[in-house]
Amino acid sequence: MSGKLQGKVCVVTGAARGIGRAVVQLYGAEGARVHAIDRLADELDVVVAGIRAAGGTADAHVLDLRSAQEIATTFAAIEAREGRIDVLVNNAGVIFFKPIEAVSAEDWDWMHDINLRGTFLCCRAVAPGMKARKAGSIMNVSSNAGIRGGVDESTYCATKFGIEGLSRALALEFAPYNVAVNSVTPGHPVHTSMSEITYGEAQRKIWKDPVEIAPAFVHLALQDASGIHDQYVRAWDLAEKLRAEGWSA
Ligand SMILES: NC(=O)c1ccc[n+]([C@@H]2O[C@H](COP(=O)([O-])OP(=O)(O)OC[C@H]3O[C@@H](n4cnc5c(N)ncnc54)[C@H](O)[C@@H]3O)[C@@H](O)[C@H]2O)c1
Repeated sequence: MSGKLQGKVCVVTGAARGIGRAVVQLYGAEGARVHAIDRLADELDVVVAGIRAAGGTADAHVLDLRSAQEIATTFAAIEAREGRIDVLVNNAGVIFFKPIEAVSAEDWDWMHDINLRGTFLCCRAVAPGMKARKAGSIMNVSSNAGIRGGVDESTYCATKFGIEGLSRALALEFAPYNVAVNSVTPGHPVHTSMSEITYGEAQRKIWKDPVEIAPAFVHLALQDASGIHDQYVRAWDLAEKLRAEGWSA
């Protein structure tokens, strides 16, 4: 491994499975000091143990992103121990498909609390430190559903359009502090526990392992506001470009 992220303090949510797991595994392999967040304690422990066994540095933080208190306490503890947070990947997300008349107020709040409010709370937690140091990179995982509608996806689309709005506004707010803020969509079907539920036969035929889009998250972690900033990034396209340029992990 080439140590592209040597010593960088990287916090990734939704790290027990899918895209988040692939990202923390590559971050660990690239020398980052990984802080992996998820609510699934056992699976998160396996991921963190794997990073350590491969020679990386990683810690597990078991929390539910619906809890503002748990987020505040966890991020404060990471900053106290590491002295800073360099990179934040807001990746955790949930989905359901329902026609709007079947969406209860509780359903709506549940998804917004995880996908959108959780992302807001994590961005807020890193803001003072990144602004003070005038350094950092934030990636908010979005979706095709962040830029166009989908049938029975009113709640999911509302959260992902919300992530787009949050990201665009924060890009402007953080630019004077040299902090990169981007939204990221996989850009190609990937095989995860979420897409086991969401994908039909056609997408299953072409889905990729999420490790194939993880290089995009390494490249974005290295950006500041003068680089890739305020973009809706298709991770697959960026990873393909990096591979064409000779990317090696
Ligand atoms: N898989 C796809 O095809 C696809 C497409 C577009 C966007 N996305 C987005 O990518 C992101 C990752 O999705 P994935 O496919 O890897 O899903 P996944 O279900 O495999 O992983 C999501 C992770 O988030 C965690 N999580 C969920 N709720 C949480 C909570 N309340 N607190 C803490 N952790 C929580 C889960 O435990 C899980 O480990 C999501 O934001 C999703 O919306 C995925």
